Amino acid sequence: MDWSAKQYVKFEDERTRPARDLVAAIPTRDPRRVVDLGCGPGNTTELLLEAYPKAEIVGLDSSPDMITNARARMAHIRFEVADLTTWKPDPAAPVDIIYSNAVFQWVPGHETILPRLIHLLPEGGTLAIQMPDNVGEPSHIGMREAGRAGPWAERIRAAGADREPLASPAWYYDLLKPHAARVDIWRTAYHHPMVGIEGIVEWFKGSALRPYLAQLDASEQAAFLDLYRKAITPHYPVAADGKVLLAFPRLFIVATR
Ligand SMILES: C[S@@+](CC[C@H](N)C(=O)[O-])C[C@H]1O[C@@H](n2cnc3c(N)ncnc32)[C@H](O)[C@@H]1O
Repeated sequence: MDWSAKQYVKFEDERTRPARDLVAAIPTRDPRRVVDLGCGPGNTTELLLEAYPKAEIVGLDSSPDMITNARARMAHIRFEVADLTTWKPDPAAPVDIIYSNAVFQWVPGHETILPRLIHLLPEGGTLAIQMPDNVGEPSHIGMREAGRAGPWAERIRAAGADREPLASPAWYYDLLKPHAARVDIWRTAYHHPMVGIEGIVEWFKGSALRPYLAQLDASEQAAFLDLYRKAITPHYPVAADGKVLLAFPRLFIVATR
């Protein structure tokens, strides 16, 4: 899937809040190296630099557009195009923290990738990940409905645009505990005030709507977004100040070897 840094950074403050909460829960102290897997435009990498000013920080992402933006933002940090499913650190330069915010919801095969990443860490090292856990929210039910409701239904189905729900916290605990000394998991919902329904549409145009819109031409995109707006509007009532609250549940996993 193609990513657009320009659309993604429109809600940077809100998207960075869980990233900050994830950093705050990492128990590893004085890391030598920290890797930001799926670093996007560098907003999370910037947080890691702030938290670990003495460490060598590296940002990796499979999207060249994201890496170009990240490099423009922080010229002194190493950013590389790489696929996290095959990435491994240089054995001569051990990595103490593997951090990945809002990435793994797009990556299948957690049962093999997550234990593999833990085993790339030295003892005391941490794998810290956060994933949106929102496919059951009206925001996502609405995109699946719009995906099935037009002449594009078969294209969208064939492209696999619908995201699978995450496994439960208990599933992740059982998966990771045999490989880690400590596994800390929590799930929380943020409630972001958005400027009307259009704010919600714009938010997801930078993430979950992309696999749907990528299958459509410009006029189909407009028709799809109309259906999407109609589907979600009843679920997001207007608050007293005119904003609408976007409920956004997220799952956090911090596994220390
Ligand atoms: C939603 S953005 C998250 C960006 C940043 N970590 C943040 O929290 O704001 C997801 C990023 O994951 C990257 N990504 C998805 N699959 C990847 C993979 N297999 N390897 C590396 N990066 C990947 C995408 O290119 C995109 O930049």
